[in-house]
Amino acid sequence: MKLFDVYPLMDLNIVKANGSYVYDEQDQAFLDLYGGHAVISIGHGHPHWKQRISVQMDKIAFYSNAVINELQAELAEKLAQISGKPDYRLFLCNSGAEANENALKLASFHTGRKKIVAFKNAFHGRTSLAVAATDNTKYTAPVNETENVVFLPFNDIEALKTYFVANGNEIAAVIIEGIQGVGGIHVSSDEMLLAIRDLCDTYNVVFIADEVQCGFGRSGKFFSLDHAGVQADIYTMAKGMGNGFPVAGLLIAPNIKAQYGMLGTTFGGNHLACAAALAVIETMEQEDLLNNATRVGAYLLQALKQIKGIEAVRGKGLMIGFDVPERLGNLKQHLFREYRILTGDAGPKVIRLLPAMSINQEIADNFLQALQAAIDDLNP
Ligand SMILES: Cc1ncc(COP(=O)(O)O)c(C=O)c1O
Repeated sequence: MKLFDVYPLMDLNIVKANGSYVYDEQDQAFLDLYGGHAVISIGHGHPHWKQRISVQMDKIAFYSNAVINELQAELAEKLAQISGKPDYRLFLCNSGAEANENALKLASFHTGRKKIVAFKNAFHGRTSLAVAATDNTKYTAPVNETENVVFLPFNDIEALKTYFVANGNEIAAVIIEGIQGVGGIHVSSDEMLLAIRDLCDTYNVVFIADEVQCGFGRSGKFFSLDHAGVQADIYTMAKGMGNGFPVAGLLIAPNIKAQYGMLGTTFGGNHLACAAALAVIETMEQEDLLNNATRVGAYLLQALKQIKGIEAVRGKGLMIGFDVPERLGNLKQHLFREYRILTGDAGPKVIRLLPAMSINQEIADNFLQALQAAIDDLNP
């Protein structure tokens, strides 16, 4: 049987991985600065993560949400501490799209309203409402078309205010990525986030922070919104949360009340998923990875800005992007083929760096050297 062909594949067969390196079948090492779409947060095959999962595997791997699962309570406790939001409630699920789908649905349940405000270039996932709130018509099927979602210009406070003044009482939620990922690493301004908070308070709208890519420490703070000192009503999390084990979740403000049946999932919050997420948080604490992401991220950002040939270096912590001018051709492919470095992209013009939060300065320097050499190769 052939696979349903929806992914253009790189010519790379990864057979093992360790820390920030992955290895092909010839045992060639590749420096992984992409982590399989921002997923590898504490490093491939981290010993604590492997041990936590395998110890749990020997006890019980899965049971559904019909029974008490103490690991969920333990994870909620850990999340309360690391996020600084002890009064929020945790709902566990399996993927970023599912987290956003649930967040949007919850906002509609809570407000009794239907309209959703999203932003140009947003990416929130592939399920029905999440994809409707995603600004890319290639991903939406006719059935996903809806008048309930409006896309406003990114970081445009006036446009937001105008929309709220006209429609405020119909809006269920505003959903925004603190740092747009798939859209090309664009940081939401502090002023914009404050304005969203303000308007959501005035019109009783639910503020959803999609922290699926930019959250869980990647930006150097646990949530990217923490940089602006702004609180959302719902935070969605996925990618880095399990370091590759599928697990996702929502943190929900206490004024949004739960009712039986409102949300649900078979696999979400299972024992192995909780063990993986706990291992990630414990490692982040033990290895001081938030501060490491801040430090190495700032170093990389600064150094990248000195490199001639690339443009518009941007980001926060270890979520970094830059533009690649056309004359450099396919820099990402060249880094992969000639320097064995994996980076991400966001369209043909943008390179995205989403390395493990544990990378050190030596790795950063190796990358910077290789990048300069690759640019020189392509633009002698
Ligand atoms: C900001 C954001 N939200 C949601 C998603 C969807 O996550 P998933 O692919 O786990 O459904 C992604 C994935 O790239 C994302 O970057």
